[in-house]
Amino acid sequence: MDIKKATARVNQLQKELNYHNQLYYNDGTQAISDSDYDTLMQELKGIEELHPSLITDDSPTQRVGGAPLEEFKQINHQVRMLSIEDIHELKEEQIIDTNSTAEYNLIEWHKKTLKALPSNQESFTVEPKIDGVAVSIMFENCKLQYAATRGDGGTGDDITQNILTIKSIPTTLPDNAPRTFEIRGEVFMPNKAFEKLNEIRHKEGKAKFINPRNATAGTLKQLDSSIVAKRPIEVIFHSFGSIDGYDLKTIQQYRNLLIELNLPVDKWFRIIQSSDQLKDAVLELDSKRHTFPYGTDGAVIKVNQIESHTSLGTTSKFPKWACAYKYRPEQGQTILNEVTIQVGRTGVLTPVAELEPIFISGTTVSRATLHNQDEIERKDIRIGDTVMIEKSGEIIPAVIKVNLEKRPHHTKPFNLFTHIKGKCPSCNSVISKEEGFAAWRCNSPKCPDQIVAKLKHFGGRKMLDLEGLGASVAEKLVNSGFVETTLDLFDLTTDQIAEMELDPAKLNSGSKSKPRKFGEKKALKLTQSVQRAKNLPLSRWIYALGIPNLGESASNECARTHRSFDELSNSSILELISEKWDKENWIKNNPVKSKTISKDSTPSIDRNEQSKEFKNRIKEINAILEDYKISSELGGVACKSLISYLNSESGKLSLDKLRRLNVNPESTNYAPFPRLQKVDDLPLSQTTWVITGTLSDSRDYFKSLIETNGGNVTGSISKKTNYLLAGQNPGSKIDKANKLGVQIITEDEINGLISRD
Ligand code: IVH
Repeated sequence: MDIKKATARVNQLQKELNYHNQLYYNDGTQAISDSDYDTLMQELKGIEELHPSLITDDSPTQRVGGAPLEEFKQINHQVRMLSIEDIHELKEEQIIDTNSTAEYNLIEWHKKTLKALPSNQESFTVEPKIDGVAVSIMFENCKLQYAATRGDGGTGDDITQNILTIKSIPTTLPDNAPRTFEIRGEVFMPNKAFEKLNEIRHKEGKAKFINPRNATAGTLKQLDSSIVAKRPIEVIFHSFGSIDGYDLKTIQQYRNLLIELNLPVDKWFRIIQSSDQLKDAVLELDSKRHTFPYGTDGAVIKVNQIESHTSLGTTSKFPKWACAYKYRPEQGQTILNEVTIQVGRTGVLTPVAELEPIFISGTTVSRATLHNQDEIERKDIRIGDTVMIEKSGEIIPAVIKVNLEKRPHHTKPFNLFTHIKGKCPSCNSVISKEEGFAAWRCNSPKCPDQIVAKLKHFGGRKMLDLEGLGASVAEKLVNSGFVETTLDLFDLTTDQIAEMELDPAKLNSGSKSKPRKFGEKKALKLTQSVQRAKNLPLSRWIYALGIPNLGESASNECARTHRSFDELSNSSILELISEKWDKENWIKNNPVKSKTISKDSTPSIDRNEQSKEFKNRIKEINAILEDYKISSELGGVACKSLISYLNSESGKLSLDKLRRLNVNPESTNYAPFPRLQKVDDLPLSQTTWVITGTLSDSRDYFKSLIETNGGNVTGSISKKTNYLLAGQNPGSKIDKANKLGVQIITEDEINGLISRD
């Protein structure tokens, strides 16, 4: 076939296949059989293989494939991806009077919103709140440019390759689509498909996903889109970011536009004109939503008129023109067969209810957390009881209460300590409980379950993102003695890991298959990601160490105020916050009363003096810390915990080992005095940048260089772009920059812009 004929045939096949994709995935119908579809696809693949120059980005063959990514690129959203304010349906015990129901709160919100609008006659839309993972897809001039996760609202992961595996998403829109069209929606896994996927995973010895949203999130974070292509994810669009070249007046009109462009929307949609209609709509949705193929946890109510969105504005987190009415999580009753004890990464022992499996909110629940002994006692939960389980999309299922009418005669109050005979179920060491704390703990640093949990945390995506370090691999590494502390991972060779035999029972439950080796390919990926982790920023390392009470935000805050582990080890900031916390607590626990001698040994006159002294010291500390503007996330508890880790035997050993391994994580968000840095004073303030081509350092480096100098980096060029930072082989972005008159800057030139001399 000559190139002319091939071009014509490729165009025709692409069109036909796109048409059939639309029919199948958006309209739920089929015009040709599956095998005819496959034949067309094979023909297209064949011609494209012979003439690779004919492969276009939007060819149906390009939806799956491409080499796995090293990491996700980052995309700056042109319009922030905000959350919606929740209005919770209250639990029975919280309803003190009829005025405190969620409906009441919703009607209040409706009234308040109407009042803030000039016309006072606004209509509102009501639609299901889909329990999925948010995505933002950018089309420019009808061509799909990229798809991104919400991320932190400002910047998300570029998941274009993964999103293209969803066949209902077209890569090209009809000509009447807005020129810039950033559409937002939820990616989800239908309940039935989720159950089926879990069954298959179970048969293959893989860990089951917890719920459909989890499965979707896990799927979207895959770097290899061929894995995503095998997962049954779908999308529904509900909102938008930036739109240019279209006069959009209402949400209803937006929905109609999506339908016209063949983009999937939710079938259930209502427009309401009064508070009575609003109440009816949310109740109707509640009665119908369980029949929907995907999980919903509420109703989203939006002001219909888009002009009013601008006049109402947003808070830092939510738009004031929308709210989410959250339904009470679904409940169910089932039998508590057994209580098992889970050992967490800090040694906390958590009782877990092993339940007779029960189907709630679209999925099967067989385990639920019992939190701790105090909670078990408060609810008097016993083995053998019929218990009420509650499950919402957000939280792990929990046991709410016991149905006492169904309690069998033989039950005994549950006691965690006696249940495990005072010994850790993983390592047999004696368990203990600190005064004033609800949790029993295993304090052995050698406890295998603790190390496994620490290792899983260490390799988590927001920590060191170690590829292939799932639950069963972590277990195997610990149980086979390869890993005693998390940093032992750095001593393992690819061969050692490759040779590791995975438990046959885990691979194929029930069958007596031979043990299987971990394998060289996977082992190489793991050791490569371990090596990569050496260069990750300080904040990720602090979080990865799994120090109690030190979450992601506190770790970020530590790295904002310290440059390295050395600085943290000698930090006066941590000491001051911790001292302040101690003194504040002392004052709280020793209230100043009259000047008499009280019953305890400290005379109250001394206490008054002491209190005064402490208050003065707190003022002093506040004055020292003022310019640091330390967020409340890095409070006294976190600081004390970090100091105690840094001074502990195991903390010192870990830091020594990091030094020996030549791992010196540096802070990439170091900005200790934010108040003193006026954003407008920075050299790149109020400029928007796009980066392209090969530069002398990574894109991330240049992105953070621009950002720390006040600039904003986005993923694609638009009218709003001021500069294109172009390296070697810049590609098509140069043409677009020239077309739109965007200034092109080289690496040398940007250094010139930034230096202040
Ligand atoms: S509208 C400014 N509509 O829920 C926010 N969001 O908790 C505009 N969500 O960020 C979003 N179903 O990811 C909207 N029908 C729906 C939704 C929906 C689910 C998600 C969305 C949003 C989050 C807020």
